[in-house]
Amino acid sequence: MSSYPQKVKIVEVGPRDGLQNEKEIIPSEDKIRFIDALSESGLSVIEVSSFVHPKWVPQLSDVSEVYSKIQKKKGVQYPCLVPNLKGLERAIGLGVKEIAVFTAASDGFNQKNINMTVAESLIGIREIIQKAQQEKISVRGYVSTVVACPYEGKIAPEKVLPVVQSLLDAGVDEVSLGDTIGAAVPTDVEKLLSLLLKTQEVAKLAVHFHDTRGTALANILKSLEMGISIIDSSAGGLGGCPYAPGASGNVATEDVLYMLHGMGIQTGVDLDQVVAASRLIEKSLKRTLSSKYLACQSL
Ligand code: HMG
Ligand code: MG
Repeated sequence: MSSYPQKVKIVEVGPRDGLQNEKEIIPSEDKIRFIDALSESGLSVIEVSSFVHPKWVPQLSDVSEVYSKIQKKKGVQYPCLVPNLKGLERAIGLGVKEIAVFTAASDGFNQKNINMTVAESLIGIREIIQKAQQEKISVRGYVSTVVACPYEGKIAPEKVLPVVQSLLDAGVDEVSLGDTIGAAVPTDVEKLLSLLLKTQEVAKLAVHFHDTRGTALANILKSLEMGISIIDSSAGGLGGCPYAPGASGNVATEDVLYMLHGMGIQTGVDLDQVVAASRLIEKSLKRTLSSKYLACQSL
């Protein structure tokens, strides 16, 4: 008998995690069309963009235009990444209702990514959450480099636990565990989740695998076996992180949906509609996306 969850929530991160790492600057209207197409697929969460410094991530400097012009569908959440109070002020100014804060399990990565140690960023995150709660904005948390760091190498699960705990104590609704450089294999996932699940509620943990070395679906399968029911993915397999050398795309939403639906796990997401959205952004990028499912659709 299968011990897999019956239902899984997909958090679509392509418009943010995907497009932040593309060399080409995609016109805002193409991003808006892409997000609007994703909204038609039944996805309940679509991460739109980031209120980070426009010089650090110029690809997302049009966040205000994109966020204000997308068609916000009832029942769909449209979170944006916020790195500091300045980012939160910008988000509040636009009426954003959901944000995501981010830190890491390693100082090496965090310094390069947001110019702060992990401890410094956790202090900032507490302030962001307090203010967000006053504004009735819900907050998701990310921990990057949960298995390996591009600057420090392998990361022990014991380093991840206190960061997850701090985010939950600070008031995030859920924590997404980021394998930022796609280095994890299923035994890493098993070790990490075994430790976290001794003290943390499974419903508060999400997994975020980049597919750099082709192990993302295997890691997701292991996560499902361990009870995880929130999975981050990018339409078409867009993605990466500009401050993690070698990080490639997130696991493709289409590939995850194909596997989950084939296993009888419900997602509420229409695979064909995600394919249609990916085709739109593929045209603007002028390159073939990495999703395996997408590739066999053109055969
Ligand atoms: P900093 O240079 O240390 O910022 O950057 P600062 O606080 O010293 O301020 C310098 C100037 O920037 C000031 O302006 C601020 O007002 C301005 P000045 O007084 O010089 O005119 N400033 C801002 N402007 C606009 N928006 C803001 C903002 N903040 C300060 N939010 C900062 C620190 C955090 C801003 C910068 O490092 C940054 O933007 N980093 C973002 C990096 C990023 O987006 N990385 C990718 C996302 S994380 C990821 O992909 C991982 C994930 O997918 C999970 C996984 O895969 O592991 C989530
Ligand atoms: Mg990522």
